[in-house]
Parts: sequence; structure tokens; C-alpha cells
Amino acid sequence: MKFPSPAILLAFCAFKAIAQDTSLGEVKRAFDAAHIPGNLSLAFEPKVLLEVTFPEPAAKPIVLHAGVHLPRNATVGPPKFSVLGPASKGPFVVAMVDLDAPTPQMPTSAQIRHFLGGNFFLESTRTPSLLTNTTPALSNFLQPTPPAGSDPHRYVFLLFDQPRGFNNQTLVTPTTSVALFNISQFAGAVGLGQPLGGTFMLVGPDPSTA
Ligand SMILES: *[C@@H]1O[C@H](CO)[C@@H](O)[C@H](O)[C@H]1NC(C)=O
Ligand SMILES: *[C@@H]1O[C@H](CO)[C@@H](O)[C@H](O)[C@H]1NC(C)=O
Ligand SMILES: *[C@@H]1O[C@H](CO)[C@@H](O)[C@H](O)[C@H]1NC(C)=O
Ligand SMILES: *[C@@H]1O[C@H](CO)[C@@H](O)[C@H](O)[C@H]1NC(C)=O
Repeated sequence: MKFPSPAILLAFCAFKAIAQDTSLGEVKRAFDAAHIPGNLSLAFEPKVLLEVTFPEPAAKPIVLHAGVHLPRNATVGPPKFSVLGPASKGPFVVAMVDLDAPTPQMPTSAQIRHFLGGNFFLESTRTPSLLTNTTPALSNFLQPTPPAGSDPHRYVFLLFDQPRGFNNQTLVTPTTSVALFNISQFAGAVGLGQPLGGTFMLVGPDPSTA
């Protein structure tokens, strides 16, 4: 057969739709439905798609779509970041926070900073383009580890334009506690502005501990 049948094409499109973010409107609706802008104290009007990809040791990499529920063992990472859509070449700042630590009902240590890095540049002018980081991260990637018995946590990834002088900020360094972080406060203090894009995933405790 020369061309895939309509059924196969349809199945492929349906898979594409759940496999990654393809619409800014859908990403925004997913953020709003999960109360993320309110919990972040940040306006979220995405201009580009931030594609977050987890490598998997024995399977195809997983590309997040906003709100996907992943088993913890698929989030070993570190994730790779790409940008789809019109964007400057960089630099960009990427952040990942847990809004629900230790539990969504009592997020008394949130936000937990799971990643913070600057000096990301588009690797190419194609879209999507991988983001490559020219300096070490301020906070290295931490795998989600919701405590036993917790409901799944919301792990949010955000892309910002990097302001001038960002490399001189001292609010967050590799030795700063990752708990009780506030990305809105940090963004205000260092001039990140509003996120250009983002996505999120839900991750619960390992089944063996749940
Ligand atoms: C924060 O998120 C919770 C759901 O996890 C929601 O009930 C609450 O209204 C949100 N708060 C704000 C200020 O958006
Ligand atoms: C994660 O654990 C489940 C069992 O809980 C297993 O079926 C699956 O293959 C594991 N995936 C990875 C990526 O290790
Ligand atoms: C950052 O700090 C360096 C060295 O202290 C200084 O030369 C530079 O002007 C600063 N840059 C900005 C944008 O503040
Ligand atoms: C984070 O900081 C913002 C100010 O930018 C504030 O409105 C908000 O209440 C803070 N959130 C938490 C959880 O402390």
C-alpha cells in the first residue's frame, strides 16, 4: 500500500495530539484548569510552545503535553528543552517548580525548585529548536519525589526571556535551599517578566511506596 489508510492517519494524529503540546490555546487552558497561574502568582499567556522531553533508557523519549500524568520512573531525566514558535535566539531562562510539596492539600514547602538555568540559546533556526545551555544550571534538575501517600504533584516548566544582568543575580545560587521558592517573586526581583511559554506534568509517588 502506497499511502497510509485514513484510519492509520487518524490514529497517528490522535497520538500526536496527546503526545506533545501543539496549541498555545490548549496549553493555556490546561494551565488555567489546573489553577497553575493563580498558584504561581504569574500571568500565563504563552507565546511559544516549550517542549520538554524526558529520555527513557529502554523506550522512546517522552515529550510532555500539558497536564500529562507520568509514572515517577519515567522522569529520571534530565529533560531536554526545545522551543516551537517565533522566538529570539536567546538567551532564555528555564525553571521547573513543584507546586504541591509535600502534598497538594498542604503545600507547606512549595514551591520546590526542581530546575533553574540561564544562558539557554536556540541551537538552530529550525522549529522546533533544541535549547542548549552554555553555563551550569543554578539549580540542577531534581527528579520528582512526591512522598508516599501523596496525590500527584504539579511540576511546572516555564521559559522566560533572560534579562540583562541575570548572570549577576545572587538570589539563587547552587547552594540556596530549593524549598519555599517563589518563582513570581524571583521573576519580579531579577526582571524575568512573564513566561514566554511552559508546560506541566503530574507525577505521583512510586507505586511501591504509594
Ligand atoms: C491553587 O490550586 C488549588 C488546586 O490545587 C486551587 O484549589 C486554588 O484555588 C488555587 N489558588 C489560587 C490562588 O489560584
Ligand atoms: C516503571 O515501572 C513500571 C512498574 O511499576 C514498569 O512497568 C515500567 O516499565 C517502568 N518504566 C521505566 C521507564 O522504568
Ligand atoms: C555583572 O558583573 C560584572 C562583574 O562584576 C560587571 O562587569 C558587569 O557590568 C555586570 N553586568 C550587569 C549587566 O550588571
Ligand atoms: C509569591 O510572591 C508573590 C509576589 O510576587 C506573592 O503575591 C505570592 O503570595 C507569593 N506566593 C507564596 C506562595 O508565598
